[in-house]
Amino acid sequence: MLHKIDVILEEARQFDAHTKEEIEQFRIRYLGKKGLLAELFRDFKEVPAAQKKEVGHKINLLKQYISEKVDSLMASTTEGPSEDSAPDLTLPGPPMEIGSRHPISIVRNQIIEIFSRLGYSISEGPEIEDDWHVFSALNFPPEHPARDMQDTFFVEKDPDIMLRTHTSSVQVRVMEKEQPPIRTISPGRVFRNEAISARAHCIFHQVEGLYIDENVSFADLKQTLLFFAREMFGQNVEIRLRPSYFPFTEPSAEMDISCQICGGKGCNVCKYTGWLEILGCGMVDPNVLEFNQIDSVKYTGFAFGMGIERVAMLKYQVRDLRLYFENDIRFLEQFRAAY
Ligand code: DAH
Repeated sequence: MLHKIDVILEEARQFDAHTKEEIEQFRIRYLGKKGLLAELFRDFKEVPAAQKKEVGHKINLLKQYISEKVDSLMASTTEGPSEDSAPDLTLPGPPMEIGSRHPISIVRNQIIEIFSRLGYSISEGPEIEDDWHVFSALNFPPEHPARDMQDTFFVEKDPDIMLRTHTSSVQVRVMEKEQPPIRTISPGRVFRNEAISARAHCIFHQVEGLYIDENVSFADLKQTLLFFAREMFGQNVEIRLRPSYFPFTEPSAEMDISCQICGGKGCNVCKYTGWLEILGCGMVDPNVLEFNQIDSVKYTGFAFGMGIERVAMLKYQVRDLRLYFENDIRFLEQFRAAY
């Protein structure tokens, strides 16, 4: 029996462990319920009375030795703290991600800022509109294709109610409330019944501009838009106005800017024309002024409307409109330094 204790003690002395797992196995092997110590205590009952004192003493020393060894191995283990121990407050915290503005917000804010320097106020209107504000007051004839279900989201129960297809509706809301001089821009969300692709989306953003006063001319419109284009895209930008048609303006035009990628020489972005279309504009049709109780003999005005996604695409060379709506962080974080 004494010899057996010596053998176990010697074996325990030799043992070395580094991981908690190994130390725990060591503890179980000796101090566990079915461990070697328990076995010794069981054998102890058979020890003749004369030897009991000496054997008992040795077993106790062995037990003490092993308990101490388990404690000191645990204390010197190099493993990190276990999950249930207190956190290490000296560790640096995880880095905090800095957010960034969405490119549409950045460009919208820039447009607002540029026009506010020219004395334009900001006005807004509802996204759910009626026929009068989206079409009729803007001189759309009853059979105009924009009034078709294919282009416009109507409310099923009431075909007079729809999601606005353009922010021109806000022009009407402003003219209802105010008399000239009127100088305002209207940023907002618009909706069209389009299949989603790289070039089209059913939800997008526009900024509408309206200027009504005495003696407002097409030259004023052109100068205002040139100023805007140069502030937005750089002082070297050229503009070009092409005749066009909108029911609410007469004459109407579409404005192109010289392609910033090739400098007007021609590339695949501008389809080798050197020009990129950015907005629609024109002189407010006298019918529109009269529909809204503004004297069309005394007053003239101009209006323009541009897509914010389109301006942002040209400014940041984004090739696919869908990127604006997916909110993939890898896309958004590229605009962190922009504003
Ligand atoms: N509302 C037009 C559109 O959504 C854009 C537009 C064109 C607005 C000419 C205007 C304008 O104010 O004069 O396509």
